[in-house]
Amino acid sequence: MTELRYDGRVAIVTGAGHGLGRQHALELAARGAKVVVNDLGGDRSGSGASAGPAQEVVDEITKNGGEAVASPDNVATPEGAEGIVRAAVDTFGKLDIVVNNAGILRDRSFKNMTVEEWDAVIAVHLRGSFLVTKAAWPHLRENGHGRIVNTSSPAGLFGNFGQANYSTAKMGLVGFTKTLAHEGAKYDIKANAIAPVAWTRMTEDLLPADFAEQLGVDRVTPLVAYLAHESNPDSGEVYTVGGGRIAKILVAEGAGWGTSDAMTVESVRDNWAAINAAEPFTVPRNVGEQMGPLIQQLSS
Ligand code: NAI
Repeated sequence: MTELRYDGRVAIVTGAGHGLGRQHALELAARGAKVVVNDLGGDRSGSGASAGPAQEVVDEITKNGGEAVASPDNVATPEGAEGIVRAAVDTFGKLDIVVNNAGILRDRSFKNMTVEEWDAVIAVHLRGSFLVTKAAWPHLRENGHGRIVNTSSPAGLFGNFGQANYSTAKMGLVGFTKTLAHEGAKYDIKANAIAPVAWTRMTEDLLPADFAEQLGVDRVTPLVAYLAHESNPDSGEVYTVGGGRIAKILVAEGAGWGTSDAMTVESVRDNWAAINAAEPFTVPRNVGEQMGPLIQQLSS
C-alpha cells in the first residue's frame, strides 16, 4: 500500500498551537509537507496572545526532522491573514494547502449573548477563514493546485443550545466551502469541510470524560490530511469525523409539494405532511440542480 506523502507541498494550518490544529500540523509535516504553524496563542475565549504555542509546535516538528515556520498572527484581521500567507510564500516559495482551524468559544444563551460575544466568534471562525483563504487564493490559483479544509461543527449543522454565534459561523463555513469548490474547480482547488468531535481544551468540560481517550485528535487528522492530499477527488463536501468514525453530511431536499393553482395558507396547511416528508430526497450539487424540480413544475 502506498503511503500518502506531501513532499514538495506547503501547508498553512491556523490555530495549530493546540488541539486539532497541532495534530494536523504534526501529521502533514511528518509526511513531508512544509508547514506554517499559525497560532495567536490566546485562551479558549480568544483573550490574550502569545507566540509560545506556535513556536513549540514548530520546535517539535523540527526536532522530528520536519520543516515548519511559526506565525503568531491573528486570523481575524486582514494584516494577520496576509502575514500567515506571507510566511508560507516567503519561507517556502509557494502554497498548496490551507487548513482553516483556528477557533474560540463564547457560549451564552441567546437571550444573554452580547454583541461583543457574537462579533468575536464570527470574527475568528468565519471572517478568519475568509481572510486567510482570500490571501491564499491568488497563490493557489497561480499554483494550479490547492486544497482547502475548513472546520465546521455539528453545532453549526444541527444547532446547539448556547451557541448561536458559533453555530452561525460554522454553518456559514459550509456555504463558504461549497462556493469555493465551484470557483476553484478549474484551478484544481478543492475545498471541503469537517465537522469534528475531539477531546481538546475547547471541549474537555463539554464531552463525556469516559470517552476522552477514544476521542483523541489523532482520530480527526487523517481525514483532514486526506482532504488536503492531491489524490483527494472530492470538493464541496462536509464530513463528520471523530472517535474513529467518518460520514458525509448531506444537504438534502425533499420531494416537496407543488401546485400550479393559487397557493393559499390553507393549501399549505393541507399539504404540510408532503412538504415535510424527508423521503424521497435529492442532494443538489449546485443551485441549478436545486432549481430543477421547480423549473420542471413551471414548464409542465
Ligand atoms: P483549541 O482551543 O485546542 O484550538 C484552537 C486554536 O485556535 C488555539 O490554539 C487558539 O490559540 C487558536 N486561535 C484562536 N483564535 C485565533 C486567532 N484569532 N488567530 C489564530 N489562532 C487562533 O480547540 P480545538 O478543539 O482544537 O478546535 C479546533 C477547531 O475545531 C475550531 O475551529 C473548533 O471550533 C473546531 N471544532 C472542534 C470540536 C471539538 O470537538 N474539539 C468540535 C467542533 C468543531
